Amino acid sequence: MDQLSYLFYETSRLFYIEKGRSYRVYPTGGATASLETYVYINKVEGLKKGMYRYLPVPGDLMFMYNNLELEDKVNKAIKRQLRGGAAVFFWTTIPYRTEHKYSFTSHKMIAMEAGHACQNLSLASEAIDFGCVAISAYNQEQCDKLLKVDGENEFCIYLAVVGKK
Ligand SMILES: Cc1cc2nc3c(=O)[nH]c(=O)nc-3n(C[C@H](O)[C@H](O)[C@H](O)COP(=O)(O)O)c2cc1C
Repeated sequence: MDQLSYLFYETSRLFYIEKGRSYRVYPTGGATASLETYVYINKVEGLKKGMYRYLPVPGDLMFMYNNLELEDKVNKAIKRQLRGGAAVFFWTTIPYRTEHKYSFTSHKMIAMEAGHACQNLSLASEAIDFGCVAISAYNQEQCDKLLKVDGENEFCIYLAVVGKK
């Protein structure tokens, strides 16, 4: 739990809101913060398995659901790359947050934003001797369904599996 909490602290934390902008631990184009973070908990002591959503304010994990096939469904949606990992971080984007300000040029910013978030997770993982694998080879429809997002106004953009080496 402490290790997971640390990873979220360095990866998704929102530390201040001012004039409609939210400031996080990674930079975003025009502070538009299009990303949301979800996590599938596979093997974390003190936390039951299942899909969770990260709530930036106040920095909590919200349990979404679990079922008997979830581990298999997650593994399938990420093309069998769970590899016994402890947790899977999923980033979704809500593109409108950036598009309303930057139009079509926002799409490169959103991709960069996801890269920054995952880089933070990679660095934080190394700091506690965890492994982290960035994954872009995943099934879009299946991941969106698992995260219960509509695939249009919000959709999965990137994910990473983390675990003890
Ligand atoms: C955008 C991006 C997508 C990636 N997608 C995958 C993936 O789907 N599956 C995987 O095993 N590794 C994936 N990787 C990890 C790379 O394969 C890995 O970083 C590369 O082989 C170099 O290894 P290293 O990071 O251990 O130095 C991805 C990395 C990036 C930056």
